[in-house]
Amino acid sequence: VENGLGLTPPMGWNSWNHFQCNINEEMIRETADAMVSTGLADLGYQYINLDDCWAELDRDSEGNMVPKASKFPSGIKALADYVHSKGLKMGIYSDAGNQTCSKQMPRSLGHEEQDAKTFASWGIDFLKYDNCENLNISPKDRYPKMSEALLNSGRPIFFSMCEWGQEDPELWAKSVGNRWRTTGDIEDKWESMINIADANDKWASYAGPGGWNDPDMLEVGNGGMTTEEYRSHYSIWALAKAPLLIGCDVRTMDSTTFELLSNKEVIAVNQDSLGVQGRKVKSDAGLEVWAGPLSDNKVAVVLLNRSLSKATVNASWSDVGLDPEKTVDARDLWEHSTQTSVSGQISADLDSHVSKMYVLTPNN
Ligand code: GLA
Repeated sequence: VENGLGLTPPMGWNSWNHFQCNINEEMIRETADAMVSTGLADLGYQYINLDDCWAELDRDSEGNMVPKASKFPSGIKALADYVHSKGLKMGIYSDAGNQTCSKQMPRSLGHEEQDAKTFASWGIDFLKYDNCENLNISPKDRYPKMSEALLNSGRPIFFSMCEWGQEDPELWAKSVGNRWRTTGDIEDKWESMINIADANDKWASYAGPGGWNDPDMLEVGNGGMTTEEYRSHYSIWALAKAPLLIGCDVRTMDSTTFELLSNKEVIAVNQDSLGVQGRKVKSDAGLEVWAGPLSDNKVAVVLLNRSLSKATVNASWSDVGLDPEKTVDARDLWEHSTQTSVSGQISADLDSHVSKMYVLTPNN
């Protein structure tokens, strides 16, 4: 959508994957503090996004949404002011249906203008707009109304459509939202994560500056995958230009989680100005190559061993869209080391579920 937002994939944090409905203003303020004190904010993670369960089930007598008094006694405006005072941006959540997915909050369907104005008056910068209780009306008929209401709200608000890929996004999504979910909800498990990566991949050609495919939020740090599985998760999300929305408790994350989330070189791939979603370009019995072009003729590559045993994964230059005659400098983004003048292909011996991520820079 033409609101000037999302020229690179959004980065930030969202409450759902770790906390579900157990949210409150103190925890959100502490999260904003932690985003700054850990340095994640400086790396580009900007948005602090509330998910489901922040509002009372009933609107007030004038039909306005009301923050849940037991959880947000100071109100959302005060919270947004706090988040802004930290140099961060505030996101909120609603649903294009009769109720939100938790059934603990009212709908925005039919209240789009009023709710968009409320959000703008609170200083909201981002809306995640969910798809539950949707009366079987097509997303194409429900989401544009909120998109327009946000455009008319007087405040630039990033519009994140959570319609689970219910309609092929090709014909409609980019003119309506800044990102659109392509799949159902991620779970903190390898199979869920990697199947979502595949489902998201098939729509790669629709993504670009201003409008991104969304394979759902990160599970890194939530405990259900191994460190190497999380590294694969993060690498593929970065390469696929997915929104990088942290889904763990950043107040208590361990150093391994921080290392995964704070790799500047991997973030730079995600935020590259060309904005082309990297794709799975080769797959052979679980040995996969994911790749995509970057600005300045560079190429980002992920080698992934999805099989159950150790194996060698290799990508030839033609697999990843490079002139076979060229030599490249191959930067290993997780090892932080460079092999110079590499010709023909790059390969790695990888244990099961392990990946490597590179940026290849042609030498001439
Ligand atoms: C849906 C969405 C999730 C989350 C929950 C909240 O399942 O897809 O991302 O927002 O609702 O209830």
